[in-house]
Amino acid sequence: MATKEVPLENWYDHPEWFEIGFQDETQKEADFFEQAFKKYCPFKVKRVFEPACGGGRLVVEMASRGYRVTGFDLSQPMLDYTRRQLRARHLKATLFQGDMTQFKLPTQHDAAFCTFNSFRHLTTEKAARSQLQCVAESLREGGLYFLGMHLAPHDIADFCIERWSGRRDNIHVTTTLRVIASSRQTRLERLRISVLVKEFEQNGKSPQKTGMNGCSKVNGKSLQRHHGKSSIDRSPKGKVAANGCVIHRMRDEFDYRMYTAAQIRSLFKSVPDLELVEVFDFNYDIDEPQKLNDDLVDTLFVLRKR
Ligand SMILES: C[S@@+](CC[C@H](N)C(=O)[O-])C[C@H]1O[C@@H](n2cnc3c(N)ncnc32)[C@H](O)[C@@H]1O
Repeated sequence: MATKEVPLENWYDHPEWFEIGFQDETQKEADFFEQAFKKYCPFKVKRVFEPACGGGRLVVEMASRGYRVTGFDLSQPMLDYTRRQLRARHLKATLFQGDMTQFKLPTQHDAAFCTFNSFRHLTTEKAARSQLQCVAESLREGGLYFLGMHLAPHDIADFCIERWSGRRDNIHVTTTLRVIASSRQTRLERLRISVLVKEFEQNGKSPQKTGMNGCSKVNGKSLQRHHGKSSIDRSPKGKVAANGCVIHRMRDEFDYRMYTAAQIRSLFKSVPDLELVEVFDFNYDIDEPQKLNDDLVDTLFVLRKR
């Protein structure tokens, strides 16, 4: 099917399809947060929050580990999905619709996290700085902020393609991400997301193997993708294929802001309430901090409120 025939929709209006692609990283991230709490935080962390929490994979995980969690996002479908996931697991968290560049929480928190490039949705320096400042104001002194994203060193290819797949029950989702335009001047990269969903009959046929195991390459680095199990929402109606499976396709396009090591360093410097404590990669190994330089692509920053 030609790209233009595939409906242009908001990827985040389909939280279940989004989440099938991104799941198993969650445990590793949460384990890392807990190790970092012990290593870098002068007090016991109890209360945490997540700006741009999406479908709430980390909200649910941290709530299940006994933390008091607040999550917010611009997308109402994402928040509704998070609520359903919490209810299904008899967990509680505070959720609200909000913009991560302008928020104020009623109490100061011990830690916060914003990973998976959510921060790069903020396409101006002003918006990015405002997010960091709002986070700082919602953290108590010594509180930690984990920020996860891909950096774009100068020598990296401007155009790349990345594909991953995941499966949950009878739903098989293949997501393809293409960088379709990129400018070092504006520091914007335009991404096209194409999603192919195959919904197989519950009993009987199972999805064909695609040869993909949930791992993909981003700019030459491997990025773990996930697939897992939990209850699935009903998907919208799609086309029925000859073998009886229902096929849905969608695409979305949006911009991400690009950062080199120097650019992110300069952004952090502009928010003196936060100090950069350490940098890690997506191996989430607390004993292996990384150097922030242009060799690093998959990056997790640990910041601390001064
Ligand atoms: C890539 S998803 C990641 C969700 C979640 N952080 C995770 O790791 O699974 C990005 C999310 O950012 C949200 N978002 C984008 N801009 C936002 C903003 N200005 N304020 C709050 N949420 C925003 C989107 O609605 C979407 O749910």
